[in-house]
Amino acid sequence: MRTEQPTTIHLTDYRQPDYLIDETHLTFELFEDHALVHSRLAMRANAAGEGGALPPLVLHGQDLVLQSVALDEQALTADAWQVDDSSLTLQPQAREFELAITTRIEPQNNTALEGLYKSGGMFCTQCEAEGFRKITYYLDRPDVMSRFTTTVMAERGSYPVLLSNGNLIASGEHEGGRHWATWEDPFPKPAYLFALVAGDLYRIDDSFTTMSGREVELRIYVEPENREQCGHAMDSLKRSMRWDEEVYGREYDLDIFMIVAVNDFNMGAMENKGLNIFNSSCVLAHPDTATDMAFQRVEAVVAHEYFHNWSGNRVTCRDWFQLSLKEGFTVFRDAEFSADMNSRTVKRIEDVTFLRANQFAEDAGPMAHPVRPDSYMEISNFYTLTIYEKGAEVVRMLHTLLGAEGFRKGTDLYFERHDGQAVTCDDFIAALEDANEADFTQFKRWYSQAGTPVLQVDGRYDAASSTFQLLCRQSCPATPGQTEKLPFVIPLRLALLDGEGREMPLQLAGETQARGTETVLAVTEAEQLFVFENVREEPLPSLLRGFSAPVKLVYPYSRDDRVFLAMHDPDGFNRWEAAQSLAVDVLQGLIGIHQAGRPLLLDQRLLEVHRAVLKDDSLDPAMVAEILRLPSEAYLVELAEEADVEAIHHVRDWVRRELATALAETMWSRFRQLGDGAGAYRADAESMARRSLRNTLLGYLMLTESSEALSVCVQQFVEAGNMTDRQAALVALVNSPHEQQKHAALEEFAQRWNAYPLVMDQWFSIQAASPLPGGLERVQGLMKHPAFTLRNPNKVRALIGAFANQNLANFHRADGAGYRFVADQIIELNRLNPQIASRMLTPLTRWRKFDEPRQLLMKAELARILASDDLSPDVYEVVSKSLA
Ligand code: ARG
Ligand code: ZN
Repeated sequence: MRTEQPTTIHLTDYRQPDYLIDETHLTFELFEDHALVHSRLAMRANAAGEGGALPPLVLHGQDLVLQSVALDEQALTADAWQVDDSSLTLQPQAREFELAITTRIEPQNNTALEGLYKSGGMFCTQCEAEGFRKITYYLDRPDVMSRFTTTVMAERGSYPVLLSNGNLIASGEHEGGRHWATWEDPFPKPAYLFALVAGDLYRIDDSFTTMSGREVELRIYVEPENREQCGHAMDSLKRSMRWDEEVYGREYDLDIFMIVAVNDFNMGAMENKGLNIFNSSCVLAHPDTATDMAFQRVEAVVAHEYFHNWSGNRVTCRDWFQLSLKEGFTVFRDAEFSADMNSRTVKRIEDVTFLRANQFAEDAGPMAHPVRPDSYMEISNFYTLTIYEKGAEVVRMLHTLLGAEGFRKGTDLYFERHDGQAVTCDDFIAALEDANEADFTQFKRWYSQAGTPVLQVDGRYDAASSTFQLLCRQSCPATPGQTEKLPFVIPLRLALLDGEGREMPLQLAGETQARGTETVLAVTEAEQLFVFENVREEPLPSLLRGFSAPVKLVYPYSRDDRVFLAMHDPDGFNRWEAAQSLAVDVLQGLIGIHQAGRPLLLDQRLLEVHRAVLKDDSLDPAMVAEILRLPSEAYLVELAEEADVEAIHHVRDWVRRELATALAETMWSRFRQLGDGAGAYRADAESMARRSLRNTLLGYLMLTESSEALSVCVQQFVEAGNMTDRQAALVALVNSPHEQQKHAALEEFAQRWNAYPLVMDQWFSIQAASPLPGGLERVQGLMKHPAFTLRNPNKVRALIGAFANQNLANFHRADGAGYRFVADQIIELNRLNPQIASRMLTPLTRWRKFDEPRQLLMKAELARILASDDLSPDVYEVVSKSLA
């Protein structure tokens, strides 16, 4: 049992720091069994306390062995300071002073992957949010910004490459085969942006000329065997740099920009100033080993981290409650970048699908929190879908309300006003307001109120007066700590369609100016009526186009209305949305029928929509694939009051088979047509779209269990010229009943790719996600595979994460064995890597969604975790809140 509970930190308790650090000089002596960290800090009392007695200096520190402390070059004796397991306290005698500290740490034993640790043969760091305190005693908070100079010393043979932030200013040799390098970062930064790397790395070089004509050196460092897999990341980087200049007027500011790929990394990547450190899964991409999805992820993450140089580094967060200030904004920026580089509509469909299946569930669960939280125990737990994805939606709404030009004026002012500062979400909003004379007082409720609002809309046409009334009602469910919610500002983008599906002119009562054929209404009241005039026939509204607000829209569409919109809405996103909501409606109806024990019968309208879409050559094939892909099991769980996992899985699977059988002929002809001219692999949007549809169709065709489908699939597996096609074939085989072909394919795949950890991740995850019976036993078997280890977060996500999140039927086995297995792994991971342990808890925290027997089983596992020894604050916070 744990003894002390972690304390809760509140936004309202924010106070300015008592001391500031103008300069930080670090020297790292790296050895195989320890590292010595010498810091020299030029410090001063913060002006706020002028005159009076100097407050004690309390530095953060964790898992450190303190070797020495000196104040203004005077060594202090141990009675001059107090140390406990999270701080070092001493009493300065002057307003300005130099503090020198030496600590000893053991990077080789750091399995939490926070602070300085070893990944494979290299040293690397991850300091956000509070990892720097595991390196040395420091004011480890984002509002303390300092200029860093860093010297790294290590053995030359194993660590020929020594890196830190900024520019290399000196280097040299020591006796005994050791060497050193000194890096200087001219930009003041908080400690969370510090980085260090030492290893035997291969370097890929390129360069970029900025808009003002400065030459920037670009470098990607990887382990030598990955040298052929960096081209896409480098291209993505250059495109990001150009895009940020063109769209935001932001230029890069150092002479060098470096990316390092590491295999052991808790998250996707980290925006350390001038030295981004990436999970190798977000850098490496070669057609032979990476899927199209991986290519797109690399592009998005490279862009995301690069964009942080302005939205995050030049302007950073005052405190961690403001995390979405940089993350929400930067996700919005990278999403727009990806939309510009690829298909805008498809990117939006992907993001909305992800948000609704996952962030909506978080917002309805025990960990629900506002985009700007009021409190936390462990900040690592708040790198959430709400902070990132909902935060990005909030910024998108601001963009929608201001228009592209007004938004740009606002961001220009924000960057100019706050360059070099650590600021708040309110500062961001104030800049947008001031540049546009706007008032976002009410809008800011999106930052303070948690929960997904429900927007209920009703339409009434009056032929006599040619008016169409839209009555909008909004509400928001209670979330932990917030029972009453005030109305949000909801931008509602819409058009009114006539009987042919054409957009009609929009004229709002009380307005003199017509609004064109598409407009954005700002819904601000709990209940609000909009009246359109001169509406010549009864319209069908196309609502919330492009998902203009992160809400649950309810409109009394009939199935025929949805069919009409799916066939005719001129807006691509809403066409998809109509098909999607038709499918949801059909699936939900069938789930009820299945539960009542009655025979299933497919609504032919869904079939006809799919047939029509399949035959429509004018549609982007990637869009067609998105429409054919039925709503996920996870989304159906999220939508359900009480999710019946067996019924959801059974019915969705049944509908897929029905569609495959009924549309087999159409699917075959489209499949073959898409195969023509496949040729060499290309990573452009058009080729990816073709592969996406073709492989979606392959999945369907395999459900028909025809021998032709099987042989085509096996052939594709064997002959595929790229990983996207090979993997799609493997997925189809693994989920098929063809045991012999399945095992042969899995075997061959593992043989061929066992030296490629990222490919093996795919191999694990395809099997872990397979819904066929016996899933738990398969996963337990794979845990013993030599390529698996709990110490590598990618492996944990690939096997345990895929099983718990993507394998509804097996994870939710009625006897609770799936829950018990995941809980066992969490207890083990809690000791090794608390951040990853905490992430793996998510599916168990959703217990309220399921039937009572499952609820009891899931809660019992949470209780067992809570009662286990040495619980980390990360795990404690999530478990205790989800049982509360
Ligand atoms: N700032 C990084 C990014 O979004 C993520 C850092 C995550 N750190 C953590 N402790 N969870 O790109
Ligand atoms: Zn980020």
